[in-house]
Amino acid sequence: MNQHNTWDRLQPTLNRRFSVAPMMDCTMQPYRYFARQLSRRTLLYTEMVTTGALIHGDTPRFLRHSAAEHPLALQLGGSDADELGRCAALAEEYGFDEVNLNVGCPSDRVQNNRIGACLMGEPETVARGVAAMQARTELPVTVKSRIGIDGRESWEDLCHFIETVAAAGCRTFIIHARIAILEGLSPKQNRNVPPLQYGWVHALKERYPELEIILNGGIKTLAECQSHLETLDGVMLGREPYQNPWLLSGVDPVLFGEETPVTSRHEALRRMLPWIESELERGVFLSHITRHLMGLFHGCPGGRRFRRHLTENATRPGADLRVLEDAMAQVPEDHPALLEEPA
Ligand SMILES: Cc1cc2nc3c(=O)[nH]c(=O)nc-3n(C[C@H](O)[C@H](O)[C@H](O)COP(=O)(O)O)c2cc1C
Repeated sequence: MNQHNTWDRLQPTLNRRFSVAPMMDCTMQPYRYFARQLSRRTLLYTEMVTTGALIHGDTPRFLRHSAAEHPLALQLGGSDADELGRCAALAEEYGFDEVNLNVGCPSDRVQNNRIGACLMGEPETVARGVAAMQARTELPVTVKSRIGIDGRESWEDLCHFIETVAAAGCRTFIIHARIAILEGLSPKQNRNVPPLQYGWVHALKERYPELEIILNGGIKTLAECQSHLETLDGVMLGREPYQNPWLLSGVDPVLFGEETPVTSRHEALRRMLPWIESELERGVFLSHITRHLMGLFHGCPGGRRFRRHLTENATRPGADLRVLEDAMAQVPEDHPALLEEPA
């Protein structure tokens, strides 16, 4: 069997039924590698990378990932069609499985560069960007948006946006089910204050059954996921699987009817050790990895001691694997029967 076939057998193909949302400073390589120990099926996204950074910056550093992270999508931020096309070609060259355009992020810095949610006011610009990306790659090109922005928040505006971008060839829309208020709310408030309107996303699927519609925003449990998946094509979760990564261990059995790849939290961490060791050897600080593991024992006896041990010791000069092993020893080993989704 050649390497390609072995790879196909080991790596499930891309499926958007369940994904972890792109999150700046969070869905970096250590988190993604860790998430992959907990679920083989979850589609993972990078944090957003702007087209300017990719084209003019240290491209290999921005696109660095390991084979173990697939299926993996690259999220781009940008609005210049030519630049988006070039970056989509880079996504394919570097082996990503999907390239996604961010039309949902409301930060000021991002608005000034015409990136993110402000582009919901310029559907034609998004359509041109999508077309340019598709012209340069065979990868699926997807769009992550809101249901609207201030001033463009009617159902008609949303349908016009979806139809314009779909006409350019995009068939997958990931929709954060709240508007973004570009005037007056911080990015953090914009993730909590505008009310969630799941009904709008369900109505989009009803109106455009030929499109793949993925719901994002405020989902915390696999039971909620199952309920949305009765009518929608996929769900994307952000904060919950970052703060409580063990949720991911339920994804393969509950949402895909497959065996979980991991039977205990300790096992998940032990599987990380060789990779962490190789990262330390390349000069990465332990704390830059362990900060993404903090939520693993969320709600478990000893979980606080685990976090405290890492907070106090992982930043010390020369901190190595022993720090993590000692932190793990603060927590009683999971019983395999503790696999159900945490409350
Ligand atoms: C710390 C943080 C960083 C984020 N960065 C991005 C980003 O780079 N690109 C993006 O499309 N959305 C970003 N988001 C938004 C999430 O992808 C997601 O849409 C949002 O958190 C709602 O989902 P949730 O309620 O499941 O967390 C970010 C969210 C958080 C909390």
